Amino acid sequence: MNYRHAYHAGNHADVLKHMVLARLIEHLKKKDKAFRIIDLHAGIGVYDLNADAATRTGEWRLGIGRLFDGEGASVPLPGMAEELIAPWRNVIPAINGDGPLRTYPGSPEFARRLKRKSDRLMLNELHPADFASLHERYGRDRSVTLTDLDAAIAIKAQLPPTERRGLVLLDPPYERADERNRTLKSLRDGLQRFGTGIFCLWYPITGDGLSDALVDGVRANVPPKTLHAELVVRAVVQDGGLAGSGLVIVNAPWTLDEELEILLPALRDRLAQAPEARSKVEWLRRD
Ligand SMILES: C[S@@+](CC[C@H](N)C(=O)[O-])C[C@H]1O[C@@H](n2cnc3c(N)ncnc32)[C@H](O)[C@@H]1O
Repeated sequence: MNYRHAYHAGNHADVLKHMVLARLIEHLKKKDKAFRIIDLHAGIGVYDLNADAATRTGEWRLGIGRLFDGEGASVPLPGMAEELIAPWRNVIPAINGDGPLRTYPGSPEFARRLKRKSDRLMLNELHPADFASLHERYGRDRSVTLTDLDAAIAIKAQLPPTERRGLVLLDPPYERADERNRTLKSLRDGLQRFGTGIFCLWYPITGDGLSDALVDGVRANVPPKTLHAELVVRAVVQDGGLAGSGLVIVNAPWTLDEELEILLPALRDRLAQAPEARSKVEWLRRD
């Protein structure tokens, strides 16, 4: 396990993933009944943008760095897109205070701050050092459960949640050769146990064929109400690094498609690094 998210935190892919995560949580909050968020690949929760890892790649400057200026002030998206990201946006100053951005929240921190007191958060992370950081940060929060399992095991152990409502985030690093099949299997295992849950699966677009193969794998046996979104910020070429990312959302909440139709073009314009930037929102299966 070589992948460390600290090098990539706050990049264009994180921005897309976390904005959609925040929308999903807002949809869950429309009903009073408590829910559970299960983050299977949690990372460490909060990232220091001045640390060696983040400054070495500088990836965050082309991600979160395009939504806040050098003084930490918001640079809003146009119109409705900004309204849609308001819950996501508000978390950033809440953990940074005044002045230039110093930290970027990972999925656990967004989830913890956006959920209500009665909702539970389950965080799983396999890397021992990252799990230790996660434990130090969230170990005393009684609404948070922590595990250090392989996600393929955690998804079976944690589902279905007692609340019978909730969201599962699958955000693997795809560093293993068999990660595509493992991820597809985890999604199937998860749906078998929690057929009404929202599942949000992230994948990278790097020109190595993984993204198409993964989406084809979902299409082959696609569950109802499955939405697909992609954001590409520059030409996709082999060995050209992370040109974009995508999300497959199963049991997508009502109107999420319309929200993403507004949000993704605005994000594409804001995060574009080259004229080849593009975005896509489509149903893999609507009903
Ligand atoms: C992309 S990062 C997660 C980022 C985080 N979800 C966020 O958005 O802030 C992927 C994480 O998965 C962890 N990981 C890798 N293989 C895993 C496995 N088999 N089971 C659980 N976690 C794993 C890595 O250590 C890494 O922290």
